[in-house]
Amino acid sequence: MYGMVNKAIEEMVCKHHGKPAWEQIKERAGVDVPMFVSNEGYEDAITYQLVTAASELTGAPASQILEAFGEHWILHTAREGYGDLMDAGGDNLPQFLKNLPNFHTRVIMMFPNLQPPQFEVSEVKDHSLHLHYRTHRPGLESFVVGLLKGLGKLFQTPVQTRLIESRSAGADHDVFLVEW
Ligand code: HEM
Repeated sequence: MYGMVNKAIEEMVCKHHGKPAWEQIKERAGVDVPMFVSNEGYEDAITYQLVTAASELTGAPASQILEAFGEHWILHTAREGYGDLMDAGGDNLPQFLKNLPNFHTRVIMMFPNLQPPQFEVSEVKDHSLHLHYRTHRPGLESFVVGLLKGLGKLFQTPVQTRLIESRSAGADHDVFLVEW
């Protein structure tokens, strides 16, 4: 994944726990990278190792860390660093969700080697929809939950999510019921 992902994890950790905690996480993860560069590619394994080390050091489950990271990604990384892209995604939560399938197409223009997730929406109603999430990467459903929570906060629209079909339970892909 692009370095901006690991950089964002670093920012989140430093903001809440300080730089020494980040150095400890990197050391435990066996990650010997002095500084991540946003537009350089890194092995996905590095990101997973950082999340696992953060989980071991804090005692919080990895799912909780991924969820917190999802919120941080929307409310800080995306909002502060890529405001124009976020603005182009829509003016309110339902609109943004309906546009989500095309979102990373614009991101690819800035990061050409992006391997983005695929989103699809179905069952669109006035206050809910099904969000289909496909990726070759395992175990990131809690990240998506956090992203959706972050979007709810961004648009000041309380949102509830429920995983109704899960790859880890044998389904073809993850499906979230999103209600607002
Ligand atoms: C301006 C905002 C955004 C930028 C710049 C961005 C960029 C990226 C980047 C660089 C990656 C790592 C993949 C790679 O390097 O190959 C990624 C992954 C991902 N993005 Fe975005 N993204 C943005 C917004 C969003 C939003 C709004 C969502 C959904 C609500 C989202 C969902 C995801 C997910 C779930 C992944 C994890 C990778 C996977 O599932 O395979 N992103 N994105």
